Amino acid sequence: MRKRIRLGFNIDHVATVRNARGDDYPSPLRAAIIAQNNGADSITVHLREDRRHIRDHDLIELKKKIKIPINLEMALTPEMLKIALKLKPKYVCIVPEKRKEITTEGGLNLNYKKNYLTKVIRLLKLQNIQVSLFIEPDLKTVRLAKKLGSDNVELHTGKYCKFFREKNYIGIKKEFFKIKNSAKLGNILNLGVHAGHGLNYQTSKKISKIDEITELNIGHFFISESIFFGIANVLKKFNKILKR
Ligand code: PXP
Repeated sequence: MRKRIRLGFNIDHVATVRNARGDDYPSPLRAAIIAQNNGADSITVHLREDRRHIRDHDLIELKKKIKIPINLEMALTPEMLKIALKLKPKYVCIVPEKRKEITTEGGLNLNYKKNYLTKVIRLLKLQNIQVSLFIEPDLKTVRLAKKLGSDNVELHTGKYCKFFREKNYIGIKKEFFKIKNSAKLGNILNLGVHAGHGLNYQTSKKISKIDEITELNIGHFFISESIFFGIANVLKKFNKILKR
């Protein structure tokens, strides 16, 4: 069988459900273990400044118990740098972060705080952490990512997925072209090329056809679908438990 593209399972939204009740379930660690046992290639988590999903103690548990690589998504801040250098995950992906956004809205502006970004990349790499920058699929930005010393780029697929939902066929074509060209350039420049955001079955299949992209990171849709794959099983279990 042809090997599939690497799949990073983002468990943030298991934590979102947990945090909604302020209890200790569902456990993101339990989700990560199931993913690990069923072929996920890495576990992705975004430790946000406001800790709205994954929290610091989740990171410590994951690091202790998960054997597949951890990909820590983080904002470009001294606090996050300190956490990453202590945790030493295999991968770090630097992402833009706004407090009020619902999800990561766009790619990182590599010209903003460029000197600090370069320093952070260097410090992470010194600890053998592979660095990725979450960027818009744009040739100039891919070149700059290389220049700043990043190992990888993750191309933001949010716009592409939005066009798909809106059935905007011109938009889909344009954005796919941008993603494909950015991936090709990244590959030529010897950058690892990943992609993610908003992906579902259909869009991840399309993006996976771009050979230069070696990894997809999928979160929200993954958890959403898992609900529907679980309802029947949980109901069966309750039917058994509640039998008189
Ligand atoms: N990749 C990056 C860098 C992200 O910030 C996110 C969202 O946390 C994802 C992938 C996953 O996006 P989604 O939850 O829409 O699948």
